[in-house]
Amino acid sequence: MLNLIQRLPKAELHLHIEGTLEPDLMWRLAQKHNIELPFDSVEAIRRAYQFDSLQSFLDLYYQGANVLLDEDDFYELMWAYLLVCKKQNIVHTEIMFDPQTHTERGIPFSVFMSGFDRAIAKAEQELGVSVYLIMSFLRHLSEEAAIDTLFAAAPYYSMIKAVGLDSSERGNPPAKFERVFAQSSALGFKLVAHAGEEGPPNYIWQAIKHLNVDRIDHGVRSAEDSELMLYLQEHQMPLTVCPLSNLKLRVIDKMEEHNILDLLSRGINVMVNSDDPSYFGGYLNENYAALVHSLSLSKEQLIELVFNSIRASFLPNEMKGKWLDEIQRIAQEA
Ligand code: ADE
Ligand code: ZN
Repeated sequence: MLNLIQRLPKAELHLHIEGTLEPDLMWRLAQKHNIELPFDSVEAIRRAYQFDSLQSFLDLYYQGANVLLDEDDFYELMWAYLLVCKKQNIVHTEIMFDPQTHTERGIPFSVFMSGFDRAIAKAEQELGVSVYLIMSFLRHLSEEAAIDTLFAAAPYYSMIKAVGLDSSERGNPPAKFERVFAQSSALGFKLVAHAGEEGPPNYIWQAIKHLNVDRIDHGVRSAEDSELMLYLQEHQMPLTVCPLSNLKLRVIDKMEEHNILDLLSRGINVMVNSDDPSYFGGYLNENYAALVHSLSLSKEQLIELVFNSIRASFLPNEMKGKWLDEIQRIAQEA
């Protein structure tokens, strides 16, 4: 199974680039910029990655991002993840970035977008990985701040495929961002939002009804609402599920309790993603492997999940068709 996971061409649809910052790169960039970290070694950073909730993780995640200062830092961050894509046979990735995490520290769009652009162009040429960017608004900040961010991004619209919504879910319902999502849609962006990770099923309904999203990020709490399950199934609304993230952030207590295969068997369009791999103990293939070990993932289920990753992507239909054919070919051989 692990061999098949490696060989199948996969898409990743839920990944925060700031969440790929590995402790050794954090350490190196802190030294480069003379930034004092509250850790005395790379190992101490790793040891600090124990969380009891989304917020306890976000506190460390935003603190970690403080070492990202110049264009080269953003280039290195992006390039390191795209090398992982090559290694894990992730042929297409839709990557979230949080502009406000950087603009709030005085780092303008020109700095991080140029760094990202350089790494993405190199990866598309040299690694054959295709990349879309998703600009995510921080939901613990105001809608006005999100609107300012949407306008500040104007020179870079051609680099951005979709907008998203992330950060602290509880107390920050999707409906708070209705206007900025309508404006983003009018500009031609696809729409995604985190909902139903820690927040209730009602937040998933809000993302659908008020924000008009094309995909839900996480959405694992949809299982608590049978009417919602029916809606998700009928509309084939994708849920970008992140198993290791859910375990590390205590959305579930044990991987054996994860409901992803239950959702799959009920006809919901779910697939596997890594969210913030450096913080949660594994990239995409490790997330699939966790399902093999803890949920006895079958070959048929694996193929379905990988199929869904391509199907739920924002790739044009001819590219989807090409990858779906390739998955089918490898599945038949296996
Ligand atoms: N930002 C980075 N990872 C996140 C997650 N899992 N949920 C909400 N916001 C995030
Ligand atoms: Zn996320």
